[in-house]
Amino acid sequence: MVQLKDKVFDILIPEEKLLTRIQNMAEQISQDYVDKLPMFLAVLNGSFMFAADLLKHITIPCEISFVKVASYQEIHSTGKLTQLIGLSDEVRGRHIIILEDIVDTGITIEGIVNDLHKKNPTSIQIATLLHKPDAYAKQLPLQYIGFSIPNQFVVGYGLDYDQLGRNLKDIHVLQEDRRNML
Ligand code: PRP
Ligand code: MN
Ligand code: MG
Repeated sequence: MVQLKDKVFDILIPEEKLLTRIQNMAEQISQDYVDKLPMFLAVLNGSFMFAADLLKHITIPCEISFVKVASYQEIHSTGKLTQLIGLSDEVRGRHIIILEDIVDTGITIEGIVNDLHKKNPTSIQIATLLHKPDAYAKQLPLQYIGFSIPNQFVVGYGLDYDQLGRNLKDIHVLQEDRRNML
């Protein structure tokens, strides 16, 4: 159990399980992208831990770059994307794999993909550690999903509650959300 401000969280996915699955995703991506020199595009802030642990297990030549967007305040999506570090032109003609910590409503990923298209990459795929199918309101296919989780608020391993909790090594779930679903 961990408390962040007024909220209490329990472990949902422990570190060992995260790391095993991430290694497995990296092996799959390495096979799929042989000879393609992929460029990973990690979405800050939330994806920093996922990106680091995934990239350690990529076994083919690759590059990594970063964008920074945000749409959440405390535990709710504002529905509006603020771009804090934009896309560079280096994506032109490249095979891009977007790295997200979580695809929730899909607003963030859709905004990034739409922007990315304007820069003419050769291909775009998405790798997300977490996905909430019940909250997802978009049609974009997600090629690599670490874990599908219930529609409950999660923090840790890069994900925050009001900027706190990103340093937790396990994924935690908001206790009141989990209890309501039991
Ligand atoms: C979170 C998360 C994803 C996005 C997913 O980012 O890291 O990027 O929300 O939600 P969505 O699918 O409903 O758009 P946030 O806006 O909180 O910024 P952060 O990564 O800096 O925490
Ligand atoms: Mn994010
Ligand atoms: Mg956030």
